[in-house]
Amino acid sequence: STGYITFDPGYVSTGSCQSDITFLDGEKGILLYRGIPIEQLAEKSNFIETAFLLIYGHLPNRSELDYFQYHITHHSMVHESIKKLYDGFPNNPHPMAVCSAVVGALATFYQDQFNNQTAREIEITIHRLLAKLPTIAAYSYKKSLGQPFLYPQNHLSYTKNFLNMMFATPCEPYEVNPVAAKALDVLLMLHADHEQNCSTSTVRLVGSSRCNLYSSVSAGIYALWGPLHGGANQAVVEMLQKIQDEGGDAKKFVEKAKKPNEEGSSRLFGFGHRVYKNFDPRSKIIKQMAHEVLDKLKVQEPLLDIALQLEEIALKDDYFISKKLYPNVDFYSGIIYKALRIPVNMFPVMFAIGRLPGWIAHWVELQGDKDFRIGRPRQIYQGKTSHDYVPLEQRG
Ligand code: SDX
Repeated sequence: STGYITFDPGYVSTGSCQSDITFLDGEKGILLYRGIPIEQLAEKSNFIETAFLLIYGHLPNRSELDYFQYHITHHSMVHESIKKLYDGFPNNPHPMAVCSAVVGALATFYQDQFNNQTAREIEITIHRLLAKLPTIAAYSYKKSLGQPFLYPQNHLSYTKNFLNMMFATPCEPYEVNPVAAKALDVLLMLHADHEQNCSTSTVRLVGSSRCNLYSSVSAGIYALWGPLHGGANQAVVEMLQKIQDEGGDAKKFVEKAKKPNEEGSSRLFGFGHRVYKNFDPRSKIIKQMAHEVLDKLKVQEPLLDIALQLEEIALKDDYFISKKLYPNVDFYSGIIYKALRIPVNMFPVMFAIGRLPGWIAHWVELQGDKDFRIGRPRQIYQGKTSHDYVPLEQRG
């Protein structure tokens, strides 16, 4: 117990490869957060409540939720010195580079608490990270525009606060569209955890050295950035835009994507998954959301039509069928982010904001593991057998 919020008794995992947090069934397309189907959470819950569920192992009661929400709201500002970091970046850095650097820099502000952290200190760190990442992210966008940073507003919800910091200016208030705020909240929920994916495994491995949570999350952001992982949502929209710019021939692109290692070709980004071999349950929800959100926001998005064509062609193609490649979480999410006016290079940042509760939950689970051990993967050595050193003058 942290003395403030109790963790579930089954909470302490029994080994670094075992976890109580998220269950995936790749064949059946099942995704459960602490045993609750993602479809029910997407329909009935919200991101902050889902973050609590993932981190503490149970749905919060009213007082737990109010406590959690209050402390996240009241940690959303960053130290004024943090803003000076942005002055050191070039004008238009990729926001994933900024977010990982600034999250890592948070460790310099709280470094006195890292050895033998109390549960209370860990809890405050959890609040700080969940609260500050949207602020740090919005500031990276404002930096790229050369616009002033806006302070978080405590009266706004989590996603309205983020969208306000992104799009308001000191010259005029910004009316956040509730449809946009709700869509973003559901997208963050759908990205909140996904078992031992690349970035979460990175957070666990870094955390397994007893490294602090800020630095572990910073490492996770870097891992997520790759186009094979969380960077895929940006790569999908850039791919769709390229297809549109080249005449909109989805079939030609699918044919090229079947030879992904050939010169001038590229994978069908947003397709395929290491675990899901029939469908990604998140992609089904996001595809439906894309139609609804664009309709409600009255946004005409030709890239959605191209995405639908790509999916229809690929799902009937023997190459994709034989390799069990289906749309994943990244295939349609960018269509919604684009409709919310979020710039394409910020799409992976949205994934990071969504995945943060999962990273935190896994790091905390690891710290509480009664069989805690540092992560130390082994290898199958295929190098040269032992042989003597050859002096330079005797080398060819
Ligand atoms: C995420 O792990 C997670 O849970 C990740 C994630 C999460 O929530 O954390 O779900 C989020 O990262 C989703 C994936 C986003 N990435 C992309 O959309 C990039 C495109 N997809 C691929 O690069 C690939 O499908 C992966 C990386 C997602 C999965 O990689 P695998 O399972 O290791 O598959 P692979 O790369 O070994 O490919 C298997 C075969 C290969 O052909 P062969 O070498 O056997 O001949 O399928 C081909 C690949 O060339 N292939 C593709 C393809 N994906 C795989 N060919 C064309 N287009 C594709 N998208």
